[in-house]
Amino acid sequence: MSEEKSNEIDEEKMTIARKENKTAQRRWRILAKALIGPQEPISIDSTGDEVSVRRFTSFDLLRVGRMENGITEQPEFASWYEYSTVLENKLFTVQIRRLNKNFTANELIGFNNTGNICVWPSEECLAYYLLKNRQLCRNRRVLELGGGMSCLAGVIAAKYCEPRGVALTDGNVTSVNNVRCIVVRNGMADFVECGVVQWAKAARAIRAASRSLVGPVFPRSHPHNALRVKNWNNCDGSDDGGVDDSGSGRDLGKFAGKLYDVILCADCLFFDEARSDLVETIYSWLTNDGVALVMAPRRGSTFQKFAEAAIKRGFLARQIDRYDGKIWSRHLELLEHSQEYCPDLHYPILLELTKKKKTLPG
Ligand SMILES: C[S@@+](CC[C@H](N)C(=O)[O-])C[C@H]1O[C@@H](n2cnc3c(N)ncnc32)[C@H](O)[C@@H]1O
Repeated sequence: MSEEKSNEIDEEKMTIARKENKTAQRRWRILAKALIGPQEPISIDSTGDEVSVRRFTSFDLLRVGRMENGITEQPEFASWYEYSTVLENKLFTVQIRRLNKNFTANELIGFNNTGNICVWPSEECLAYYLLKNRQLCRNRRVLELGGGMSCLAGVIAAKYCEPRGVALTDGNVTSVNNVRCIVVRNGMADFVECGVVQWAKAARAIRAASRSLVGPVFPRSHPHNALRVKNWNNCDGSDDGGVDDSGSGRDLGKFAGKLYDVILCADCLFFDEARSDLVETIYSWLTNDGVALVMAPRRGSTFQKFAEAAIKRGFLARQIDRYDGKIWSRHLELLEHSQEYCPDLHYPILLELTKKKKTLPG
């Protein structure tokens, strides 16, 4: 190939890359608007590469301290933190590995990396709510969907709520690998299962199963076996960027066809294209007398749209704004004193979903 021709091809590739980058930035701005609102600064650096965001981060319900021995194999990539609180004179503490990475616009919208940015306030509030209401998960099979890099609520449930078993999931491979490390470090590997679950794939499998007359695509296994884990200690810090979803189909088989008594989900309601899949996954994987505890800020009309979709699917939905005295008083304090705090984006509302009881004829 002539040098001239090769230069032309390179130039063409560069133009495509620049266009893709612009599209990625535009999509990120839309996503960022849902996440943090239009009033807070979103800075994309001059190369259009790294994205940094200033935002309200926490209700300070749990004390968060970087651990002295918290250095990971790749300190620039992840570190260990201790999340703790004292309730009724009892200390509750879990060790959480957090990713430090700054994401490019492309990575943020690649397969959604929003759960690798931080532990979002909804996850924090849901974890705290479970600690205060430990009976909710006692002797129950618990599943977290979209738990991000920490699955903090599910980890707390596993450690302190005496569940029958726990399954922690997210659609992002990097998040799930991080959660695997957390599970091992907190000594829960024998009763906590972990895996990649993308709601679209889950919903597709569920719909296919319900169309088929022969029953579920995946064999329904015994609930106790369902929650045992094999060998998945993979804490080498390796980063696949979260875009490789090769594990998701394999992992899905571990969860599909099983039923859970409690499903947890924090700050996952603003993905318009995934809403109906998330509703379907929750509906199909929840036992008839189970409860889904969904926490999320209002974020425009996204909370409302999710609640409506859930009701349409057959759920009874109870929206609870004041589910905890301490969280509510923090919210009031922040309203008065914090300029960064915007309830629409930051105050998590609790949506309790239960299935309508089927009335028997006669
Ligand atoms: C805002 S983050 C919340 C993460 C975590 N619950 C928290 O509050 O810290 C949204 C999460 O939903 C996950 N997610 C987004 N779309 C998804 C999908 N279609 N299937 C599965 N997970 C998805 C992302 O990977 C991300 O972890």
